[in-house]
Amino acid sequence: MEPTRIGIIGLGIMGKQYARVFSEHPLSKVVAVCAKVPEQVEEARQRYGAAGYLEHREMLERDDLDAVVVATPDAHHFALARDVLESGRHVMVEKPLTTVTAEADELNRIARRKKLKIQVAFNHRWLSCYQQTKKSIAAGEIGVPLMGYARKNDTIYVATKHITWAGDTTSAWFLSSHDIDLICWWLESEPVEAHAWGRKEVLVKMGIPTYDVIQAQVKFASGAFVTFESGWIYPNTFPSTVDSLMQVIGTAGHVCLDRKRESIEISTEKKFSYPKGFLISDTFGRLRGAFPLCLEDFLLALRNDTEPHVTGIDGRRVTAALEAIHESLRTGSSVAVAPLPEAASA
Ligand SMILES: NC(=O)c1ccc[n+]([C@@H]2O[C@H](COP(=O)([O-])OP(=O)(O)OC[C@H]3O[C@@H](n4cnc5c(N)ncnc54)[C@H](O)[C@@H]3O)[C@@H](O)[C@H]2O)c1
Repeated sequence: MEPTRIGIIGLGIMGKQYARVFSEHPLSKVVAVCAKVPEQVEEARQRYGAAGYLEHREMLERDDLDAVVVATPDAHHFALARDVLESGRHVMVEKPLTTVTAEADELNRIARRKKLKIQVAFNHRWLSCYQQTKKSIAAGEIGVPLMGYARKNDTIYVATKHITWAGDTTSAWFLSSHDIDLICWWLESEPVEAHAWGRKEVLVKMGIPTYDVIQAQVKFASGAFVTFESGWIYPNTFPSTVDSLMQVIGTAGHVCLDRKRESIEISTEKKFSYPKGFLISDTFGRLRGAFPLCLEDFLLALRNDTEPHVTGIDGRRVTAALEAIHESLRTGSSVAVAPLPEAASA
């Protein structure tokens, strides 16, 4: 069978990884790449032998593309994914699917009308510890889930050095998006209401106009409530880029996953660290881990014509919860999460 022909929009931190994973995979080939930075396009063009573009519409005019990845900063996902779908290609979109719920609804409408697939890159679902949690909760091992807590706190390096667009987003969009997806998946319940608090003290003084810390409580249709905490100001001395913990308490037990330390610790004369490799690591010359598996399953969903493991509806659910969280941050009130349009849930 011919390899799936992939185009990639966005060649930054994530886009480079997509390009490498899809070009190394035997079921796919990267035929075109696009970014706004000419040096990034030139580098990818040379490395993968792909055609390079600065304008995505030009790339979409090619007739040899089967699917396209959107790996740009969040605010651009909607317009780019819409153009990809309208051009008749399947799309894999980095998280979050969109930053506006109505836009996610529109993407899902176009995909349904054109019979195309959307997969959102909530790659944490491919981590074995979270798969195990899903199975345990589904089997009723902890009884009925009542309450949860999910935190992802990054060191300040992430907002000040790692990404250049932190001021255009929040730690909740960047970090809690993963946790909201995981909790919705585990609880199999719709988020219905959000109340959130946030503080802006440190990053604004550094010229990055975003929250330092956010805590949001989200109520689910099942009656469960979950706290989603995210932050961007841990000191860089913290031994891991992200302090990640997830917990669900049920009527008959609890499950708790502490991912700040993924089994390895290293101390040198310069620093003490907990390096992470479960999502992605260079293994015998190829990128492996949960992230490449998420990409491989997108290829398999296209080949087998099956539903992706994380759909556009899943992406929409997370966007709607985050939209309510940010409306609550703005108003100080509890905010209802926009329910799925009836056509989408049918
Ligand atoms: N950085 C991370 O650790 C990380 C982790 C998980 C997910 N993500 C998600 O991945 C996405 C990309 O993040 P990143 O950190 O790789 O960003 P980045 O800033 O490193 O790269 C962004 C890329 O998008 C390109 N771009 C922007 N607008 C464009 C447009 N209109 N047309 C074509 N190209 C365009 C830029 O030229 C650049 O190549 C975001 O949605 C982010 O939330 C990032």
